[in-house]
Amino acid sequence: MADQSLLKRAVLTGAGAYLPEQILTNEDMAKRVDTSDEWIVERTGIRQRHFAAPHETAAYMGAEAGRQALEKAGLNPESLGAIIVATSTPDQAFPATAVRIQASLGAKKAFGFDLSAACSGFIYGLSVADAMLRAGQVKSVLVIGTEVFSRLLNFEDRTTCVLFGDGAGAVLLEARDVEQGGPGLLSTHLYADGSLGDILYVDCGTHDNRKPGHLVMHGREVFRHAVNLLAGAVNDALAENKLSADDIDLLVPHQANKRIIDGVGKKLGLPAERVVITVHKHANTSAASIPLALADAIQEGRAVPGKLLLLEALGGGLTWGSALLRL
Ligand code: UT7
Repeated sequence: MADQSLLKRAVLTGAGAYLPEQILTNEDMAKRVDTSDEWIVERTGIRQRHFAAPHETAAYMGAEAGRQALEKAGLNPESLGAIIVATSTPDQAFPATAVRIQASLGAKKAFGFDLSAACSGFIYGLSVADAMLRAGQVKSVLVIGTEVFSRLLNFEDRTTCVLFGDGAGAVLLEARDVEQGGPGLLSTHLYADGSLGDILYVDCGTHDNRKPGHLVMHGREVFRHAVNLLAGAVNDALAENKLSADDIDLLVPHQANKRIIDGVGKKLGLPAERVVITVHKHANTSAASIPLALADAIQEGRAVPGKLLLLEALGGGLTWGSALLRL
């Protein structure tokens, strides 16, 4: 008979990352637009970004990150249940990036779909995977964030083109019966406000035929909303789990701007050593930024079994959200 005291949880069993080979420093960007290393570092914390080569598509990078996550977990791709890909830069409108990745991994029994929630996509993906795993629909889900934002950038707009980079990160979540206090996703909180859709968007789509599309952002407006909305999302996560900021071992935030990350960290009263920062080396990789930061923290030995992680993101939509995850 099943042990009634055990909880069914989505447990992280592997993580992976992929970054394109090509690195562009702020000095490289200053050769293309009227900007400077000093301005970019002071306003954002960014020092460099990776830009994808033609073969490094969202599907290619996502498959590389996903393969690593499966290997770390020791799961045969043929046993994988589902693939959720968070991306705003899919290779094609369809087939979904997720099913391209399914083919590349040889994950023959997995179904898959893409999810569009801009920079919050990975948190949205975790939330959907969590529900699927706890409901018993599947036993394992690969959640991937993969982006080639370099292909959306307007290199005549210095206010946006210096901010973004390319890459992919992935986690494997598996359904496990765990004891109270054991590993797994404790909660996810998702939010959206479509009335703010015009402060961060891509100016193409099936509603018009302008090509190529460019990312457009009213940065100051997004910034103004970010810290307060993110603080609300993390407070909801803590309150639901009857936790305080002191219980958080690591904040793993979306990496858009170091000033936003510091603002949320300060509101929580978290010291710098409990906040994961990768924006200086990856820039803003949208849906890929949290799994890339998580893989970085695991690689550095900061995110180890037993640690409690608070994840948060905000992006176009606006969409935002938080997740509490014990490793
Ligand atoms: O991931 C999705 C969510 N996105 C975000 O969270 C991004 C949120 N926003 C931000 O991170 C910031 O608003 C930015 C980094 C985008 C901009 O920083 P800011 O401190 O809000 O700068 P600003 O837009 O107020 O611009 C200040 C000045 C302007 O010049 P004037 O009008 O004061 O003379 C800009 O023209 O900085 C100028 N500027 C630049 N100068 C050099 C804007 N971009 C650049 C640049 N290089 N790249």
